Amino acid sequence: MKIAVPKERLSDELRVAASPDSIKKLSALGFDFAIEAGAGEGASFSDAALKEAGAEIVADAGSAIQGSDIVLKVRGPVDEAGDDLSQYSSSNILIASLSALGNTEAMEKLAATGVTAFAMELLPRITRAQSMDILSSQSNLAGYKAVLDAASELGRAYPMMMTAAGTIPPAKVFIMGVGVAGLQAIATAKRMGAVVTATDVRPATKEQVESLGGKFLEVDPEMEKDAQTEGGYAKEMPPEYFEKQKEVVAEHIKKQDVVITTALIPGRPAPVLVTEEMVASMPDGAVIVDLTVEAGGNCPLSELGETVKKDGVSIIGHANVPSRIAEDASQLFAKNLVNFITPLVDPETKSLNIDWEDEIIQGTLVCKDGKVVHPRLTGEGS
Ligand code: NAI
Repeated sequence: MKIAVPKERLSDELRVAASPDSIKKLSALGFDFAIEAGAGEGASFSDAALKEAGAEIVADAGSAIQGSDIVLKVRGPVDEAGDDLSQYSSSNILIASLSALGNTEAMEKLAATGVTAFAMELLPRITRAQSMDILSSQSNLAGYKAVLDAASELGRAYPMMMTAAGTIPPAKVFIMGVGVAGLQAIATAKRMGAVVTATDVRPATKEQVESLGGKFLEVDPEMEKDAQTEGGYAKEMPPEYFEKQKEVVAEHIKKQDVVITTALIPGRPAPVLVTEEMVASMPDGAVIVDLTVEAGGNCPLSELGETVKKDGVSIIGHANVPSRIAEDASQLFAKNLVNFITPLVDPETKSLNIDWEDEIIQGTLVCKDGKVVHPRLTGEGS
């Protein structure tokens, strides 16, 4: 069995879908690796380190993909970005983050190559799949990095400092949306000595915020009772809730030095939580990091890939934040893939034996036998 790892070709992508550790783990299951030269560079995995772990380094993507059973990528192949879809065929299984939802045309193109493709971002959020969950592993790091990105823009320190020249008060950091990224942002800002508050529509998050030493900003516990789906995600809230939230947040945000927004609703644009008026009310020098900018943004002023200055406030809208911490992000992404692939292998025969009825397989399978097959793309599922 052979695994190919081509270089990522999207310009903002420094991550890679394999690490020295994942190569060793999958080699033990019976896989040989062919990795395109330079594929690990952005994540600080040199060709020499990948070779040392057991991979063969090949000159180009085509040589890696040819004859491989599995192709691992961080992002799905895009012809326009310099990937070559004609290198894929029905003999390959592609496993990557495909951004499949809302990209039906790209998925049709991918399916037309004959490749069997799994979209890791569609993994069901069930206990058994936790170790394969790329959304969690990458969001966690994005939450951490957002706190550092804010720190480097902020003209103030996070911790309280008592110096001979006088005392510096701690910075006030407010986290909006307490999912995986938000929780890590709270923990990171707390560790750095900030005074942390946070808010979310899901009532379960109150206890989580408090257990990390943050203070929870409550909006309307009565309306929030019904805010969570069975899958643990937020529902879209009614307009009355947003009105109430606006009032509560507007008062609070005036005193914040840093705001990190992470609020998302699956399949919908990100809700607007920080209005232009709120930005104008913030102290001069304050910083907002909008981690949802790729989904439209929690702040209407944030711009993808830009740091916008408005009313003395910096609004950071970095694209692809996990790529900004590419080494650890690649380590964890590659480990997620090891955990996804391991159950697909029969350890005795050392060959692939995929259970097509499995919930994890069905939840992630997007292209098979020349067709797009995922129910959420064919219109048969929600
Ligand atoms: P996400 O990235 O979809 O959203 C981030 C946060 O924004 C969520 O906590 C959401 O409640 C919040 N939010 C949405 N609208 C909001 C609004 N108007 N105001 C304030 N906050 C708002 O969420 P993420 O990080 O993917 O996690 C969602 C849930 O999934 C969590 O409960 C998490 O524990 C669960 N989860 C389960 C896993 C598993 O069982 N395998 C793996 C990872 C997460």
